[in-house]
Amino acid sequence: MSYRFDILTLFPALFDGLRQESLIGKALETQIIALELHNWRRFATDRHSTVDDAPFGGGAGLVLKPDPLVKCLREVVPPGSRKILLSPSGRPFNQKLAHEWSQLSGITLICGRYEGFDQRIESHVDEVISIGDFVLNGGEVAAMAVVEAVARLLPGVIGNAESLTEESFADGLLEYPQYTRPRDFEGQTVPDVLLSGNHAEIAKWRLAQRVARTRAMRPDLPKD
Ligand code: ADE
Repeated sequence: MSYRFDILTLFPALFDGLRQESLIGKALETQIIALELHNWRRFATDRHSTVDDAPFGGGAGLVLKPDPLVKCLREVVPPGSRKILLSPSGRPFNQKLAHEWSQLSGITLICGRYEGFDQRIESHVDEVISIGDFVLNGGEVAAMAVVEAVARLLPGVIGNAESLTEESFADGLLEYPQYTRPRDFEGQTVPDVLLSGNHAEIAKWRLAQRVARTRAMRPDLPKD
């Protein structure tokens, strides 16, 4: 059974590029994942297929109406799928959530556009999630970030499973610096320890680098 991503979006064509990305493309081809796009405009009932309307109380912009979106959710979401609304007003997305969601049978990602959603939509989803403290034009790019983060944790998507356990955030620390040839690039040389062949010393150096980098770049991350 494929891991299933259901995406509710008014702009399904934005996902064409993601479908062609190498690892995601291969995972689709081998049916490790399925990516179902649903344009909820088709659930609008009026002549003009309206999905947004003016906010009660006044203010700039339009608000996404609850009825077509909730109707779409009711009709397309498979049982067991976690329903996730993407919004800058959500809880922050992180690697722990990506892991948690990779254990499910699938997730449903709901992408907003315009100024926001009618608040009553929140009671029809399981989570409201933000990918960071910045505002995008819509949830599509955020949904793509979540698809990549979750898909790469599924068995068979990444050839080298070791690279999953070694990378940033697997244990709350950022990655150690990596080097490849040449040994001297415009006067910047590779640290001697990496050329020493002493694996215990290399492991020690790498851990120290990870701790130092995490302190410098991300003082907000827990240090234990
Ligand atoms: N939609 C607009 N901005 C967003 C963000 N930062 N995270 C998730 N969805 C969004």
